[in-house]
Amino acid sequence: MSSVAGPTVVHTRAPGKINVFLAVGDLQDDGYHELATAYQAVSLYEDVRARKADDFTVRVTAGPGVDVSGVPTDESNLAVRAARLLATTTGYRGGVDLSIEKAVPVAGGMGGGSADAAATLLACDALWGTGLGRDDLLKLSAELGADVPFAFAGGTAVGTGRGDELSPALAKGQFQWVLALADFGLSTPTVYHELDEHRLRHSSDISPVRQPVVDTGVLQALRAGDAELLADVMHNDLQAPALHLEPGLGRVLELGEGNGALAGIVSGSGPTVAFLAPDLDGALELQIALSAARLTVVRATGPVHGARVITD
Ligand code: C5P
Repeated sequence: MSSVAGPTVVHTRAPGKINVFLAVGDLQDDGYHELATAYQAVSLYEDVRARKADDFTVRVTAGPGVDVSGVPTDESNLAVRAARLLATTTGYRGGVDLSIEKAVPVAGGMGGGSADAAATLLACDALWGTGLGRDDLLKLSAELGADVPFAFAGGTAVGTGRGDELSPALAKGQFQWVLALADFGLSTPTVYHELDEHRLRHSSDISPVRQPVVDTGVLQALRAGDAELLADVMHNDLQAPALHLEPGLGRVLELGEGNGALAGIVSGSGPTVAFLAPDLDGALELQIALSAARLTVVRATGPVHGARVITD
């Protein structure tokens, strides 16, 4: 193959995420809420293989425990939208055939669709030779969704604004997670809406929402790599509305916390429940206990790197 023709296929990978802290502020005029969140990228990856084509197409296959039946494969697919956005931005005239292997639960609150979009931007930039590079791709990624820049960046970061204004956070060591996957999805806008409704109903007895900030204890725990400290300060404002919409998640949280988890938290807008384990042995024991209770469980560690090209 000549260098002018470029690669025939590019393989990229981007991680899912857990919001170890998520404070939601007021609804803004653009339909988004102001956020303060601490993201951790975890070792569940979306793999994207991009091949040159005349048109834009996508195929999706499932990793362990993942149900991809609800993933659209038309123009509304976020990876297709990412590829089209890059083509429009750079003036590229061709298309791409995308093949996505999903390990991040679908509509699970772990940013799987965002990871697809981040991995696709990186893959198409390399495949097409459009040469945008990481910094410009990161900027472009914010147009595709609030979580996409973090899927691109990876590691540990604080997100403000819609969640897309990132500042890297120091983190030490590895955290061990056990994830209980639900056999249903939750719509992110519905969960935010439920939170707004709750705040409206109780506006007389809850204080008005102020500028959301990440608790300094969270940053200290991440910096120290201390799972026990992190367990004490993990928080998600979307957990209560997710539990209100899906009360069965309360039992899942109790099961994990009764079987050795340091703490459990609904991941993002749910319904995945993320349990922080004290160490690898604790994570393995918890995985066995939750599997025995017939939950679909996967383990993951974090933090991990963001979107990158894989050399097969
Ligand atoms: O950006 P993304 O497409 O992931 O957001 C999905 C939906 O989640 C938005 O349309 C909005 O309803 C809600 N959202 C929000 N505030 C944020 C992020 C998401 O209200 N900061």
